[in-house]
Amino acid sequence: MLCWSAFAAATAVDAIYAHKHLGVASCSNSVCHGASQVFRDSHVQQNEFAIWQETDPHAKAYATLSNAASKDIARKLGIGEATQAKVCLDCHADNIAADRRGERFQLSDGVGCEACHGGAENWLNSHADKSVKHADSVDKGLYPTEDPVRRAELCLSCHMGTRDRMITHRIMGAGHPRLAFELDTFTWLGRPHYAIDKDWIERKGEWNGVRDWAVGQGVAATNLIDQLTDPKAGWQGIFPELVLFNCYACHKRMSDKSWGPRQGTGLGPGVVRLYDANLVMFRHVLAAVDKTAAKRVLDETRALHRATTESRDATLAAARRLRATLDELVPRVAAASFDAASLTTILADIEADAARGEYRDYDAAEQAVMAAQSVVVAYENSGAIDKGKADALKAKLDAAYATLKNENSYSMASFQSALKAVRAAAP
Ligand code: HEC
Ligand code: HEC
Ligand code: HEC
Ligand code: HEC
Repeated sequence: MLCWSAFAAATAVDAIYAHKHLGVASCSNSVCHGASQVFRDSHVQQNEFAIWQETDPHAKAYATLSNAASKDIARKLGIGEATQAKVCLDCHADNIAADRRGERFQLSDGVGCEACHGGAENWLNSHADKSVKHADSVDKGLYPTEDPVRRAELCLSCHMGTRDRMITHRIMGAGHPRLAFELDTFTWLGRPHYAIDKDWIERKGEWNGVRDWAVGQGVAATNLIDQLTDPKAGWQGIFPELVLFNCYACHKRMSDKSWGPRQGTGLGPGVVRLYDANLVMFRHVLAAVDKTAAKRVLDETRALHRATTESRDATLAAARRLRATLDELVPRVAAASFDAASLTTILADIEADAARGEYRDYDAAEQAVMAAQSVVVAYENSGAIDKGKADALKAKLDAAYATLKNENSYSMASFQSALKAVRAAAP
């Protein structure tokens, strides 16, 4: 079911662009996915197009490139119109090569159906036939969005950037918002065009939000290392590509004097550190799966941090070692079941790290609160807690989110006590 190794060679972007893209108009007929109401007798809702067009930010991603913020970014970068610039279009539209677009394809559709579901050239005519198995359509190029590893690779190709779709510190410096992604949270943000019901599970297998969170962290950590070790993506002149480092290592007020030790880095004060929030989270995942492996990831992460203060060669060697470890662990995490006891272990591990001062930086705290949210929702779905308890827990979670409202006034102490309260309200 989970085909990590089989697909490891081809990136998500390769898979999405492997077949011709026919355009959103090819999906939006009223008897296909363009219905105004949910179809009762169908496996799928069939009103996906209406939901996407009316409420999904992906439908507006191309239009964003004409707004004032985009004009400003493009002007500062000196790249001409953002609506014409490949670097912007790669993530804000379905930017498959021009000669592989069908007659009804329009770039202005933004991040359309085939940007996530893959080129429909070979499966458009057959996939709606009830006698055709989902796996057959996948063989013909339908992207397996139901598989958490593959879904993480897909979303992260735009929500973090990859070697194929790189977002650089220069783009950030021109004013692009910092990217922060968590697979489970983002799968359910806004109004989804899919329903994970009994029928979905029969056709596509189990759905487990905490596992999705866990897999998303492992894939994001892998992705960071792949960019760091790539000779083109990882370096800009004499500096490594700064987007791979912790924004708050450099962007902070000098008067704060906020430095403190972190077990996850082992570094002293005054050192630029890699963005490691996903590695920190992946350790919390492993606390519930394999404690020895969690220790190994901690040791290898610290070795990587240390290597960045030594040399480029040492950094690449340490990064490759950690990459091999992640390669081995991500499939195990994807196959883990994450029962109620493991939820408690994960939450306790996150809170213990918070108490130790591991969430000194805003972006790590942001990942920790999204992790806590996945756990809280999973508690509720598992039936381990009743409604009263769930509501109490959610109120504490809201309070933790509130401490992260403004990155410029982030206080680790407030976050620590808010997270402690979440833990105390959990089973
Ligand atoms: C082809 C690139 C691309 C892919 C693939 C992609 N996204 Fe996006 N996503 C974007 C862009 C660009 C935006 C911002 C749109 C805008 O506001 O103009 C966005 C916005 C979002 C938002 C709204 C964020 C907010 O702050 O409200 C969510 C949620 C989201 N994406 C989830 C996902 C998930 C989940 C996946 C994987 C299943 C995914 N995206 C895959 C490009 C992509
Ligand atoms: C690696 C993929 C990627 C690249 C490259 C990229 N963006 Fe984005 N952009 C995103 C995503 C994802 C978001 C949504 C972030 C979120 O809300 O979490 C976004 C958000 C934005 C926003 C804020 C959207 C809003 O609704 O407020 C603007 C403006 C923007 N991008 C412009 C640009 C421009 C201009 C370029 C080219 C210089 C560009 N982007 C390149 C992925 C990308
Ligand atoms: C940002 C990525 C993204 C975009 C854009 C997108 N989808 Fe989806 N779609 C998903 C994800 C993730 C799922 C849920 C996982 C699954 O069922 O494979 C899904 C599920 C579905 C399903 C339900 C499948 C089932 O078996 O129940 C249908 C149908 C669908 N999408 C059609 C569309 C159509 C039509 C469009 C364009 C109007 C579209 N999608 C655009 C990511 C996307
Ligand atoms: C190694 C230190 C370092 C790291 C890490 C770093 N930056 Fe920067 N950042 C800089 C420098 C240096 C500048 C350029 C300041 C100038 O031009 O005066 C800058 C400029 C910026 C600017 C423009 C500020 C302005 O006043 O115009 C933004 C926005 C920005 N960075 C965002 C980020 C984000 C987001 C991250 C993390 C993904 C990040 N930076 C990581 C050092 C860093």
